[in-house]
Amino acid sequence: MAELYKRLIEYENSGYYPFHMPGHKRNPESAEGILARVYGIDITEIDGFDNLHQAEEIIEREQKRATALYGAEKTYFLVNGSTCGILSAVCAVCGKGGRILMARNCHKSVYHGTYLQELEVAYLYPGLWKECGAAGEIEPESVERALRELPDVEAVIITSPTYEGVVSNVKEIADISHKYGKPLIVDEAHGAHFGFHKDYPENSARLGADIVIHSLHKTLPSMTQTALLHVNGNLVDKRRLERFLKIFQTSSPSYVMLASISSCLDMLEKEGTERLERLKERKGRMAEKIKGNSFIKIGERKGLDPCKAVIYAEKGMLTGQQLYDILRKEYHLQMEMAAGGYTLAIFSMMDTQEGIDRLERALLEIDEAVKADDISTGKEKWIPLDMNCRNETVMSIFAAYEREQELVELEKSYGRTAGEFINLYPPGIPFVTPGERLDEKMIDILLSYEKAGLHVQGIERGGIRVIKDA
Ligand SMILES: Cc1ncc(COP(=O)(O)O)c(C=O)c1O
Repeated sequence: MAELYKRLIEYENSGYYPFHMPGHKRNPESAEGILARVYGIDITEIDGFDNLHQAEEIIEREQKRATALYGAEKTYFLVNGSTCGILSAVCAVCGKGGRILMARNCHKSVYHGTYLQELEVAYLYPGLWKECGAAGEIEPESVERALRELPDVEAVIITSPTYEGVVSNVKEIADISHKYGKPLIVDEAHGAHFGFHKDYPENSARLGADIVIHSLHKTLPSMTQTALLHVNGNLVDKRRLERFLKIFQTSSPSYVMLASISSCLDMLEKEGTERLERLKERKGRMAEKIKGNSFIKIGERKGLDPCKAVIYAEKGMLTGQQLYDILRKEYHLQMEMAAGGYTLAIFSMMDTQEGIDRLERALLEIDEAVKADDISTGKEKWIPLDMNCRNETVMSIFAAYEREQELVELEKSYGRTAGEFINLYPPGIPFVTPGERLDEKMIDILLSYEKAGLHVQGIERGGIRVIKDA
């Protein structure tokens, strides 16, 4: 049993009466069923349980275990998701008003970090995964070019793997960044399972990245919001990083979450490789069968994370949303997300053979239905979700957020400057950021997404926030 979890159970049964937070007082009358049972071990920082913000005892020991498992120099537990790790990382490596070099397909938390530090942003544009219209890798040469041209860049940040499992060459990007004396942050939120099996990608802490952020909850058995931040080398001021972690993490960390992290590490240590092997075999068998399909495919690409399946219909026979809806309504299979041309399934070492069999059966049957013309296909053309939007920057995100704004109809916003992020969630990657010009092409794309039934965040009641007088 994981040490932290064991200690919580012992405390629950110890007879100590809680004249402290939380207000449920571990009283079973506070809630019903499972929730009441969880309350039994739901404490925050009390005697004997160390302190997340100054870990010296049990949390420190557990953090060191994670450090060793991932091959980093220091690891921090996060209970506010990768989001708080990314915010802390961006704020720690960049000074107020500085400049960051970031992949355009970064998660919105990176953009929020640039707002908080009032940063100027230079973008790295990923390639395009043409088959399904998702973002590809960040090419190391583009990092080299940008760093040569922009000596005032303070740090580089990329997302690898992407939501869809595309992995960039982190080793080469880290080497280039270091040649220019810049720290590399890798948002590896979707890759917490990397580095535990030879047929899965290596984790970026071992590949030379200076800061790596992992959402344990995304692909490992751990509670929602649990994450890790690893730090390496001398390019990052660790005291400054810790200051920001104190700012962005709650002062009342949930010990249920911390115990979940501890239990996840236990599983990784003892069974991680074996379980990843089992997943690889099971998913591999399914993928082989689907290869025989005429229309419904699983995307393939060199170096792809085996924990993802990008499912798409060839020749645009079905949109991502249609596939997502059929799988949910007809087969009770809930996908992670729908994009223009594909739907995304996430796998983890905890998937069952039964679950994978159900997906296989569904994809074989949908393919048959498409062949037999039993489902309406090809009527709603999908437009690739181009995350590489190269909009004109009129002002920084910070400047745009600070300016007076107004709501205008989408059709009437041509030429105006956006006052809000516009994105799909998931994946939360912006098509438009505050401060960028809304040109005709972008408005047409946004209108088509709306028409295709995709839920576009940043469009409210058919309107869009723009900067007044700009
Ligand atoms: C690439 C990426 N980074 C960071 C995050 C934020 O992670 P969390 O939900 O753990 O805060 C997400 C969430 O979806 C993500 O997709």
